[in-house]
This record gives sequence, structure tokens and C-alpha cells, in this order.
Amino acid sequence: MSLKKTYEPYFKIGAAISGWNLKTPSHMELVKEEFSTFTAENDMKPMFFLDWEANLAHPERYDKEPAINPGKAVPFLEFAKEKGIPMRGHTLAWHNQTPKWFFYRNYDAEGELADRELMLARLEHYIHSVLDYVQTNYPGVIYAWDVVNEAVDEGDFRQRSLWYKILGKEYVFKAFEFARKYAAPGVALFYNDYETAQAWKRDFIIEEILKPLMEKGLVDGMGMQSHLLMDHPNMEDYRTALEMYGALGLEIHITELDMHNADPSRESMHRLAERYQELFRILIDAKKKGLANVTSVTFWDLLDETSWLSGFRRERSYPLLFQEGPGGRENPGRCERKEAYYSVLKAVG
Ligand code: GLA
Repeated sequence: MSLKKTYEPYFKIGAAISGWNLKTPSHMELVKEEFSTFTAENDMKPMFFLDWEANLAHPERYDKEPAINPGKAVPFLEFAKEKGIPMRGHTLAWHNQTPKWFFYRNYDAEGELADRELMLARLEHYIHSVLDYVQTNYPGVIYAWDVVNEAVDEGDFRQRSLWYKILGKEYVFKAFEFARKYAAPGVALFYNDYETAQAWKRDFIIEEILKPLMEKGLVDGMGMQSHLLMDHPNMEDYRTALEMYGALGLEIHITELDMHNADPSRESMHRLAERYQELFRILIDAKKKGLANVTSVTFWDLLDETSWLSGFRRERSYPLLFQEGPGGRENPGRCERKEAYYSVLKAVG
């Protein structure tokens, strides 16, 4: 039994993969055994897709037409193509992990912010180049893109984002317009965010982003990141939000699922297993009843040992379904399945 087989009747199931995972055979064995989709954890973000050297060395040449360098993305795309595992593309327009210079005239972060016209030209050219590159060289590999990530914060559009400072909320709509213009037919376009079960944020995303995008036929799906805690959000709030996004008729992807848990004791890992099972039951139930068309669920990272949460929370986290084998990082053997893995399998049926 595997996650991908068990969940085949419902949705794709995936993990975010890092360069470290890619270089570690036991990790990639696990990906092949268990998952039917994956996301590059970092390497397809603007920070890595933009060509720093070319843009910074020749700003006059690339000012309106930023150069890209797909070098970091290639190993992920190759793996996907070779093994026939489709990928989510993450992410095109984000305030974070995008170099500061990208927002400045002549790519000079000490100078003046770019104006509206210049930034729109860069946004269009960037999206065009990235989509063209992957669609020409790896046709059919990427089935969905997070076009805009995390545009909402503190009750409004995220004011401190440089995208917002230069373009206001227009950047969100333009990014989708450009993505639609250049995406191959069948590639689904997603809005992606965290804390999407929080009532104000859920309502804001629905009213201010999804509905206006839907009116123009520019969005296909809602990405609920789902970086959860053990006691937050409450699962009823999660279900309500899932059904509200689902009621719009969009596809739903759970894009970055994990549950921060700093206590590796057996009891605590049992609670983790129970919480995952409850969540997967909610997802299956909504899908079966036609309340939310969940088509893909991706864990954010593969193993506890490679979870971003240990760095972010400044304490070791044990938030996932798998861990390194007994040899650890230095001598990785077959990865181990945790109780939460079996509880997610059992959530079906
Ligand atoms: C956000 C982003 C992801 C990733 C996580 C933390 O959720 O969308 O790309 O950076 O934070 O790792």
C-alpha cells in the first residue's frame, strides 16, 4: 500500500522536495513509492529562477525583460519527466524570496523603485519566460502554478509587499492575466496563501481576489497552504473554509501541509496521527459529497529531518509522516513511516 495508490480515487498526493532530497537516493525512493505529485521547495521561486548575474551585469539590456536562468529548476523538472510524476509550479509572484533589486530601476537596490509601467513589463516578461521555458522543454510536466502567493495580510492586501507598493492590488490581477495568456491549455492557475481557514482572511480572499478573478476567467483553483499547529486551526473552521472555497466551483489544492509538533514522544506522535486522520477524513468527505473539489494534497517537505519548521520555529519539529532511517542523514537507509503515515492511509474507507 502507498499514499498515492490509496488516494488515487480522490486526489493526487505529494511532497515538497529540496535539493538535498534530490541528491539522497533513499529520499527519492520514498517519493517514487509514495507520491503522485511534488513541488520544488525553493528552486522555482523568483529568487532562483531569475538570472542574477545577467540582470545585474547588464541592467540596460534586461531592464524591461528580466533574464532567467533555469539551472536550479532543471534537476526537478528532469526527475518529474523521467519518472512521470507531475509537478506543481511554485511560485510566480510573491513578495518573499524575490530579490529586492527586481523591484528597482536598473536593478539597483540602492536607487529608485521601478514605476508601474516598468514593473508590469518585468512581471509579464518574467511569467512569459518561465512558462515558455517549462512548457517548451518539459511539456505536460507542470499541471498547476501558484501564480500569486500570499497577497493578503492584516485585514487587507499586503501593504508592505514591494509588488503592492509599486502596483497596488493590480499586480495580483495582472499576474493572473499574464499567466493565463502564456500558460499552455490545461495548466491550472492557483491563488495560494496561509491561514486560509481564518474567517476574515477567508472572506477577504473570496471577495477581493477569487470572485473578481473568476469573473474574468483567470483563476482555476485555490491553494490552502495548511501549515497547521496541533491546536490551530480548529478543524471545524478548516472544514467551513474548505467548503466555502469549494462552493465557488474552483479546484482546491492543499499545497503545503504540515503540523508543527515539537514533542517526539509516542503520545504526542499519536495525537499528530489523529489530527492528520481527522483532516484527511474532512478532505475525503468534502470530495465525496461534492462540497469541495480537492484534486491535490501536498505535504510541505518529505521528512521530519528536512522540515523547514525546525528552523522557522527555532525548535526541532516532528510534523510529517516520515523520518530518516536509523543511519540518519549521514548514512541514510530506507526512510521510516511514522504512526501518522498509517493513520492517513486508514482515513480512507
Ligand atoms: C510559504 C511559502 C513556501 C515556503 C513556506 C515555508 O508557505 O509559500 O514556499 O517558503 O512558506 O517553507
